[in-house]
Amino acid sequence: MSAPNLFTYFAPTQLSVGRGAVATIPDILAKQGHGKGLVVTDPGLVAAGLVDRVTSVLDSADLPYAVYDQVKENPPIEVVEACLNRYLSEDCDYLVAVGGGSSMDTAKTAGVLATNEGKIGEFFVAGKVTNRIPFTLCVPTTYGTASEVTPFAVVTDGNHFKASVVSPNIIPQVGVLDSAMAVGLPMPIAAATGMDALTHAIESYVALTASPLSEGLALHAIRLISKYLRQAASSSTNHFATEQMLIASTLAGMAFSQSRLGNVHAMSHPVSGHYGVPHGVANAVLLPRVMNYNKIACPVKFAEIATAMGEDVSDLSPLDGAECAIGAVEQLSEDVCIPATLSTAGVDPEGIPTLAADAMKSPNTQINPRSTTLEDVTLIYEEAI
Ligand SMILES: [Fe+2]
Repeated sequence: MSAPNLFTYFAPTQLSVGRGAVATIPDILAKQGHGKGLVVTDPGLVAAGLVDRVTSVLDSADLPYAVYDQVKENPPIEVVEACLNRYLSEDCDYLVAVGGGSSMDTAKTAGVLATNEGKIGEFFVAGKVTNRIPFTLCVPTTYGTASEVTPFAVVTDGNHFKASVVSPNIIPQVGVLDSAMAVGLPMPIAAATGMDALTHAIESYVALTASPLSEGLALHAIRLISKYLRQAASSSTNHFATEQMLIASTLAGMAFSQSRLGNVHAMSHPVSGHYGVPHGVANAVLLPRVMNYNKIACPVKFAEIATAMGEDVSDLSPLDGAECAIGAVEQLSEDVCIPATLSTAGVDPEGIPTLAADAMKSPNTQINPRSTTLEDVTLIYEEAI
């Protein structure tokens, strides 16, 4: 029988970090000995010239590639299948994802179909991805999902339900964190994805499944986001703040890859699914309310979060320290112009019963630090509306 405190840690992604890091891609690929790559991205990033920064590096190294540039937000299954068809028809043998979570998750799930027999819906069941995806290199252009290091990929099925493929076999082999690929993000995107990364870190830190390793990663992510998100969200030229945010997002991704998340994500997915509220905005609005609900379960941990966010809680009780953490999250959210309530973000109060029922279907409620009922979730939505 295993000891009750046994935990494991697994983080296989090689990271190349720094301004101009996309220039390292040919060397990385040369070591792998690959043939032709498929660059997976969306039309907006092509128009913004960001994809060119990657393909010009491939061109200058005479590396053959094709491009699939029709990724959509919350990628539907048809997009994944179209990406796979391009991968197969172009006779590719590795993937290069350029973009946010949608591009990376499209590449990862197309990769699942390339190396495993079956339809994508069959892989929403744990343990079904038996073969490793093809070599996959990710270049994130936002701070949010950290899909470059996680075993998760989210796609949208025919019923507008966001379903996940979860497997260590879909963790990308390489992540390239280049500030030039994310600097100057429009403030709403920087703010929402940055607050998503903060939510990953805080939920991971207090999850029942947290380990000393995931806690260390999460706590440093919280420090960096608290220090650099405001600058990264408001400046088109601050490469250092942008790089720190990319690192923070990846750290948080490494943390929640191990621990998973909690009530904020359980509750934010239905908000995005039913009302189209950006994932990071839904998280940011719900985060302080869920922290307030959770604080009595682990006040010392929340006080530690306050310290990581730059608050002096040395003379306070743990519960008062936890209040400081909640206040710091609310202040950061306000400073980067996140809406204060769900109704401001477009949620109809009449929809709360549906949202609450959907939230309780999430396994994230089971690892939340305070046990949670349908009534609890309903009350938190009512406070956030
Ligand atoms: Fe998230």
